[in-house]
Amino acid sequence: MWAVTSPASTSLETTDPHGQSGASDAWWRHAVIYQIYPRSWADGNADGIGDLPGIVERLPYLRELGVDAIWVSPFYVSPMADAGYDVADYYGIDPLFGELADADTLISTAHDLGLRVIVDLVPNHTSDEHDWFVEALRAEPGSPERMRYMFRDGKGERGEEPPNNWQSVFGGGAWERVDDAEGNPGQWYLHLFDAKQPDLNWQNPEVREMFHDVLRFWLDRGVDGFRVDVAHGLVKTEGLPDFEPDPDATAFQADESIDNPMWDRDPVHEIYRGWREVLNEYNPDADPEQDRILVAEAWVQPISRAALYTRPDEMHQAFNFAFLECPWSAPALRDVIEDSLTVAHDVGAPTTWVLSNHDVVRHPSRYGLTSGDKRPNGIGMTDPQPNEMLGLRRARAGTTLMLALPGSAYLYQGEELGLPEHTSIPDAERQDPTWERSEHTQRGRDGCRIPMPWEAGATAYGFGDSSRTWLPQPELYGSLAVDRQDGVPGSTLELYRGALRLRREHELGIGSFAWLDGYDDEVIAFTNTGPDGVVIAVITNLGRAPVPLPDDSEVLLTSHSLVDEQLRHDSTVWLRLS
Ligand code: GLC
Ligand code: CA
Repeated sequence: MWAVTSPASTSLETTDPHGQSGASDAWWRHAVIYQIYPRSWADGNADGIGDLPGIVERLPYLRELGVDAIWVSPFYVSPMADAGYDVADYYGIDPLFGELADADTLISTAHDLGLRVIVDLVPNHTSDEHDWFVEALRAEPGSPERMRYMFRDGKGERGEEPPNNWQSVFGGGAWERVDDAEGNPGQWYLHLFDAKQPDLNWQNPEVREMFHDVLRFWLDRGVDGFRVDVAHGLVKTEGLPDFEPDPDATAFQADESIDNPMWDRDPVHEIYRGWREVLNEYNPDADPEQDRILVAEAWVQPISRAALYTRPDEMHQAFNFAFLECPWSAPALRDVIEDSLTVAHDVGAPTTWVLSNHDVVRHPSRYGLTSGDKRPNGIGMTDPQPNEMLGLRRARAGTTLMLALPGSAYLYQGEELGLPEHTSIPDAERQDPTWERSEHTQRGRDGCRIPMPWEAGATAYGFGDSSRTWLPQPELYGSLAVDRQDGVPGSTLELYRGALRLRREHELGIGSFAWLDGYDDEVIAFTNTGPDGVVIAVITNLGRAPVPLPDDSEVLLTSHSLVDEQLRHDSTVWLRLS
């Protein structure tokens, strides 16, 4: 049985001052933030790859959807070895995506529509084509140029062994050997991701200064915040000791281990305190509307470690990956919700919620898998396939639950259409470096990065005017296109719009949460009371038996139709209690 508590005893209000503004209703405490993956949202120039002008044109759609902000994955100059997470110039836009003027237009158009803009910052590594790395290769071991990265001599008589046993997140070893000036094998450099993503040396003040400058560059252009890539990776354990991971853990799970010398080292926090000071300079009057924010991508466990990134003088938010990774189980979800609210409350930060992003199997497919990994790294044609109907049903119920919770929520492009993972991409068309680096054992993340379907009858389902898109679109995406769902009662798109409208109307993002007792183990039930005093009860049924609704309640929203006024399996209802 789950702990039954009275509403009063578990009321978790977020009243602690935390923003520059100190306001308990600052925009980011309750914002719904929509992630745009620029390669795959809209293609403005018919080359099969999404771009900034494409995004600008489609922005009104997001206003109508009812989100508060966008987070745009990297659009910087990049050789695209990791789809732009390998940055060659932090101050420029890759020609694939447009030019700096297009970024300015994106920011101003979004602002005109009432949408804030968060950009992606990649501080753990640069591209190997960044000027700094090119200079480092030309320079001597021990030179200031090499000190910007993690160069080390190899082990063994002739330095032929890597400096330690660390593995890349994408598979294979985390070290690459370079040639010296005479063309003989020389030092090694660390890359926690692809070999084209050399890790920076964050002990070097020059690196710290450069990123302060990058922050200012984008703040000056008007961005409202930064999503910080691999926020838990910047500082490594002194001496770079070997690491013996749990043999059963996947690469991703090993990353999250608490005693891993590559991740979540305490000195990393000091870096973010410095960044926070930079952001605060941009809001000298502490106006809650002017807060600029930092959100951490930190795959760390337990969840209390992630909360440390959101202490009052660090970041504003951290992604709630514990919620994302939670299986479709009522007791497990209840625990994660309770823990999430508690740890965030302890540091005075808002909780965040997220179910999908560009690195994980889309949640309708994840929830449709009946067995296996909590975070499978892609699904291929020959892998066990998800149960699509059940998965979508659970996904709709899960999102409807998520959007009723207080805090800030992240949506990933296309989830509002109920898009599943593309699970039958021909392996020859895969682009994620994971597939090659893992020697074809991990399919990787392409399946969640497929170009968006906008119009069922158009070329590339309205993604752009080229029928060849950078990743192939499955036929099913046509039937899920925006124009097929727009205005259609019961469609996933209308469900999201309805939930976002009610969430905004009752300000549920800053509401008070309390568990609702009297339900059985397979049912999640709570109330969220917004500042207007309206008590909204939310019930999610993860069991088989239908659940009757409380007396004197008015149905506001359901993820699936009720039958005989009862809530059926794998569905969520929002009720107004009187
Ligand atoms: C983050 C990004 C991911 C990228 C990696 C390396 O996890 O979300 O897409 O591959 O960092 O930058
Ligand atoms: Ca394009």
